[in-house]
Amino acid sequence: MLLPNLNNHKIKTLVATSNKYATPFFILDEVELNKRCEQLKNSFYKRYPKTHVFYAYKANCIPHLLHTIHSHGFGAEVSSGLELQLATKLNVKNTVFNGPGKTNAELTYALKKKAMIVVDNLDELKKILSLQTPSLKIALRLSPPYLKNKEWSRFGLQRNHLDSALGLINKNDVCLEGVHFHLGSELTDSTKHSKAIKWLSTLIKSTLHDFKDEISFVDVGGGFGVHGSAKKTLMAHSLRMVDKFTGSKNLEGLACTSPKKVEDIDGFAENICAAFTSEIVPQLGEIELWIEPGRWIINPCIHMISSVVAVKNKSAVLDVGINNLPNCIYEQYPCINLTRPSDEKKKISLFGPLCMSNDKISTTLQGDLPREGDKVCVCNVGAYNIPWSSQFIQPLAKVVASNEKTSKIIRVEEGLDYRIGRDNI
Ligand SMILES: Cc1ncc(COP(=O)(O)O)c(C=O)c1O
Repeated sequence: MLLPNLNNHKIKTLVATSNKYATPFFILDEVELNKRCEQLKNSFYKRYPKTHVFYAYKANCIPHLLHTIHSHGFGAEVSSGLELQLATKLNVKNTVFNGPGKTNAELTYALKKKAMIVVDNLDELKKILSLQTPSLKIALRLSPPYLKNKEWSRFGLQRNHLDSALGLINKNDVCLEGVHFHLGSELTDSTKHSKAIKWLSTLIKSTLHDFKDEISFVDVGGGFGVHGSAKKTLMAHSLRMVDKFTGSKNLEGLACTSPKKVEDIDGFAENICAAFTSEIVPQLGEIELWIEPGRWIINPCIHMISSVVAVKNKSAVLDVGINNLPNCIYEQYPCINLTRPSDEKKKISLFGPLCMSNDKISTTLQGDLPREGDKVCVCNVGAYNIPWSSQFIQPLAKVVASNEKTSKIIRVEEGLDYRIGRDNI
């Protein structure tokens, strides 16, 4: 079996669906989506029943799939006024509003909709206070000072602003209802979560003790990694240069690290809930534990079905490009030849149809070497591709939902009306 979520039965469904719709299209596996939501609940709820899940809209917010996710009782983690509007339209009651650059208009809207605003910085706190909302409840995003990764440590209140923030909260009679951190994406295990929970526990003792009676939740963010794709290393670029200057040795494919080994969700739940129970509960009582997964839920539930439009020497051109699969720049997704399956992995460059040198989908293909017209599945592309896709040259692809018995289009392919719909001509 190529991937845990793609057994032979699943592949057969993909083949059947691939013949029903014009390629390229994304296919949402609704059975897998429901399964993962249940798995997530089981893993966390049995270990800490007061866990609340907020699905991170940024990972993929197609309304049809949000509807399924919310049917499991999950709230929404949003990072813009527009995402909050979408959650409101879908009647989602529990929303948590993150982000480092919330505007006055967004904050006003969030207060009106009773979203839990996670304040990112001191200026944002001052902005909220200036809106003079009665009985204001907020959460603070904290930035563990030991975080080495600069990209993630820039979010949240820095330690030297924390005392001023707490002073303002006290002075203005605001309720500090929760504290939050998010430690990065694609985390391969729960070490960072456990460490941050321990750090928070010392912060509660040293600095947050006056707020012990108010804090009713700790939000430990998302970031749970998934099996499957391999990260392209920086070396990829260097090896591409070597390829270029030494002839087509196709060394670039070697630069992908092997598919990540990732702790399963039970492991994440076990360690997070254990740390929470031993570090936070003794100080704050059995308060709520909030989590904000995006990638873990949606990544293995969506695949891209494309067709081979041309075969060249050691390469092939697909009808899907990186405008629809932008993460192919960083990730090596498993690709399967659905028309000519086999257990063998072939080294071949699969390019997209864009007139751009880095429009490369993969350097390997599971199955026989492709021929023109073959269907190729780019697997496990559900997170951070559709929301990052661009209108570069080719249309935004349609999305089909399949529940193994039936399938239907849940988002149509982009047409001219959509492309120029916002223009004054
Ligand atoms: C604040 C916050 N919460 C949750 C997430 C979701 O992360 P992931 O999709 O890795 O689970 C992100 C992603 O960057 C985030 O910034």
